[in-house]
Amino acid sequence: MKPLGVGLIGTGYMGKCHALAWNAVKTVFGDVERPRLVHLAEANPDLARSRASEFGFEKWTADWHELIADPEIDVVSVTTPNQFHAPMAIAALEAGKHVWCEKPMAPTFADAERMLAAAKASGKAAIMGYNYIQNPVMRHIKTLLSEGAIGTVNHVRVEMDEDFMADPEVFFYWKSEIAAGYGALDDFAVHPLSLLWFLFGHVEAVINDMVKPYADRPLKEGGRRAVENHDGANVLMRLGGGISGVLMANRAAWGRKGRIALQIYGSQGSILYDQERMNEFELYQAGGRDTEAGFRRVLAAPAHAPYDRFIPAPGHGLGFNDLKIIECREVIRAISGEPSSAIDFTDGLRIERTVHAMARSFSERRWVEVEG
Ligand SMILES: NC(=O)c1ccc[n+]([C@@H]2O[C@H](COP(=O)([O-])OP(=O)(O)OC[C@H]3O[C@@H](n4cnc5c(N)ncnc54)[C@H](O)[C@@H]3O)[C@@H](O)[C@H]2O)c1
Repeated sequence: MKPLGVGLIGTGYMGKCHALAWNAVKTVFGDVERPRLVHLAEANPDLARSRASEFGFEKWTADWHELIADPEIDVVSVTTPNQFHAPMAIAALEAGKHVWCEKPMAPTFADAERMLAAAKASGKAAIMGYNYIQNPVMRHIKTLLSEGAIGTVNHVRVEMDEDFMADPEVFFYWKSEIAAGYGALDDFAVHPLSLLWFLFGHVEAVINDMVKPYADRPLKEGGRRAVENHDGANVLMRLGGGISGVLMANRAAWGRKGRIALQIYGSQGSILYDQERMNEFELYQAGGRDTEAGFRRVLAAPAHAPYDRFIPAPGHGLGFNDLKIIECREVIRAISGEPSSAIDFTDGLRIERTVHAMARSFSERRWVEVEG
């Protein structure tokens, strides 16, 4: 079979993660053809040249349209800032390529809808970069919930916090532009929503308050520019099955480096997880002796598939980039028409719908049902 021809647009934080994943997926999983890294696009030509060499791509360009037109490419990784996802993903799908696009889909709901329409019209795989659902620990939490290990779930809390915008003197960049979206919602809340989707299905209704801790930020070239979106959001939610939920997101939380803290409470126990300790979870099961009642800390191990594909030893741990490798395997599954656990544009749009419902709730100061 012809190897899958890969194109990569953007070579920043996520571009490197996708490149690592495409390079490693065959080594880790074995049961796939080794992809061929064909063409890389990066706005800055010098960077494009050097990154193509570092990442292992055969060709490079500073014009992403050239990459889309390349007949040797079967799948395009879109890892550019949010406002470019729609034009790039739609062009790739219209050119008959599969797409693996970073989150969120797009800053506007209309663009996200156009992305889904293009995916449906093309019949190609269109997958979102929701890597956190791919953690073997998260997959095991889902299994525990389906086995009833903590009974019937009635309450869920999830908090996503980082501190890369905590310093008021951090330079203004694209993440503070309204063109990139609402801020805490489409930059952060989408990740917790992907976990909630994975574990419980979609959110039904929301009420949301948002915060903008700093009115402006310095510009590299001097002066200051007004911050155009919100760095924090506090949301109450109603999920299916009578589950009540809380979601909090904050890009300006000093000391938090990569926190996605999930608390799940059921009629027979509780489960705790935090992405900052992504190789463990805590399980409390009611019914034992009061004298030993307490949370049990479980370390990630080969028994939590597909951890075993990386390392045969328990407790040694996977990292963030490994989640992208697992996601890459799921992208290849979707391309091959096999069942895939990755979030496609159809479920991705429902996450976008939820984010826009949160934004509407904030502006109208009321509960909003998530339609569709
Ligand atoms: N899945 C995750 O966990 C995760 C984490 C971080 C970021 N993201 C998402 O990934 C996307 C990129 O974020 P990032 O942090 O990697 O940004 P970044 O700024 O580090 O990288 C963006 C890259 O795109 C390039 N670029 C910009 N416009 C371009 C164009 N027209 N043509 C070609 N290249 C262009 C930039 O030069 C840069 O190399 C965002 O949508 C973000 O939300 C996802």
